[in-house]
Amino acid sequence: MKNILVTGGAGFIGSNFVRFILQNTDFSVINYDLLTYAGNIKNLADIACSPNYKFIKGDILDDTLLDKVFADYDIDTVVNFAAESHVDRSIVDPQIFVKTNVLGTLTLLEAAKKHWKTDINDKYSTDYSAGVKFLQVSTDEVYGALGKTGRFTENTPLSPNSPYSASKASADLVVRSYFHTFGLPGNITRCSNNYGPYQFPEKLIPLMISNACNDKKLPVYGDGQQIRDWLFVEDHCSAILAVLEKGKQGCVYNIGGNNEIANLDIVSLILQTLNKPKSLIEFVKDRPGHDRRYAIDNTKITTELGWQPKHTFEQAIQTTIQWYLNNPNWLNEILSGEYMGYYERMYER
Ligand code: NAD
Ligand code: DAU
Repeated sequence: MKNILVTGGAGFIGSNFVRFILQNTDFSVINYDLLTYAGNIKNLADIACSPNYKFIKGDILDDTLLDKVFADYDIDTVVNFAAESHVDRSIVDPQIFVKTNVLGTLTLLEAAKKHWKTDINDKYSTDYSAGVKFLQVSTDEVYGALGKTGRFTENTPLSPNSPYSASKASADLVVRSYFHTFGLPGNITRCSNNYGPYQFPEKLIPLMISNACNDKKLPVYGDGQQIRDWLFVEDHCSAILAVLEKGKQGCVYNIGGNNEIANLDIVSLILQTLNKPKSLIEFVKDRPGHDRRYAIDNTKITTELGWQPKHTFEQAIQTTIQWYLNNPNWLNEILSGEYMGYYERMYER
């Protein structure tokens, strides 16, 4: 039985992960989330009363509250999803990205170090079932952009291009330093683009579904030929659990499903599925510093930990589109709130 602190558990991937853990393990989950614009407690309405689940509204920069949570709930595992996660917002307002993603991760690491009383001899202890672990959820964007060939391995040099990815790469380095200097047992996972239920509609797939449903223009950056390596969110959750349980302390694991698709192809597929005309596509000014291509080499996690994605893109994108069609209230609440101010500034002015 583990007591797992999930930070950012009210966001897109975090909420899917909390549900996945409650359904697949006997762990106790403490969901610690500030509920920023991206956090939505309704993402977990169905499991809010589960006996192994507790929600605490809090900031990962709040060391006093973190101290109390570690002590009160005897936390032995941290999975850190809490972050500012949208590249476009990091171009407009980089400061909050460094604050939350770098200083926030540092504050969490300090809380774990203090309560776990780790020392340098702990760092290679691999028995997670009896021990502690800090898992930093990172991203393939820390590796920068690929040309037409090649894939990111765990040894690819860090070369972030946006304030968002620079903040995530910085956080990875701080986590690494706590492992090597203080013996804080941990892993870093670097996943490719996720899609699935509960993704905030500022991101490509839910944005395009939402606009298409409302007969609004679909803003495609540049020529739409940028490539992302898409993974269904539940497969990301199962990969994180595999790394928690079997990952070698101090190691980085890339996570991806060998599923490279150009943005324009995804947008066209969404239009076709929803029976909407291609004329809704509008090519708009490109994102500054836009990374052309990401692709993950997942050899390490598949061979070392035996993890495999279970979902195909063809099937899971349909599940995802259907989820948004079945949950208009979830989407409409966001579309009627402060998000529309962002949308106007970003796309309409
Ligand atoms: P998200 O924006 O949907 O959710 C982020 C969550 O963090 C929100 O619930 C928000 O309220 C919370 N949060 C923000 N600042 C906080 C703070 N100071 N204290 C506590 N909570 C705070 O993000 P997501 O897409 O679910 O991504 C989760 C993590 O996974 C991020 O670290 C991101 O970098 C990483 N990641 C995302 C993807 C992807 O495709 N979405 C891929 C790889 C890695
Ligand atoms: O690769 C993992 C990363 O994937 C995560 O670390 C980030 O948190 C997550 O936001 C995501 O970053 P991207 O920038 O790849 O995702 P986004 O959905 O913003 O954009 C996907 C692609 O679609 C990208 O090439 C930009 C393009 N795009 C996006 C938007 C919002 C458009 O063409 N038009 C748009 O309006």
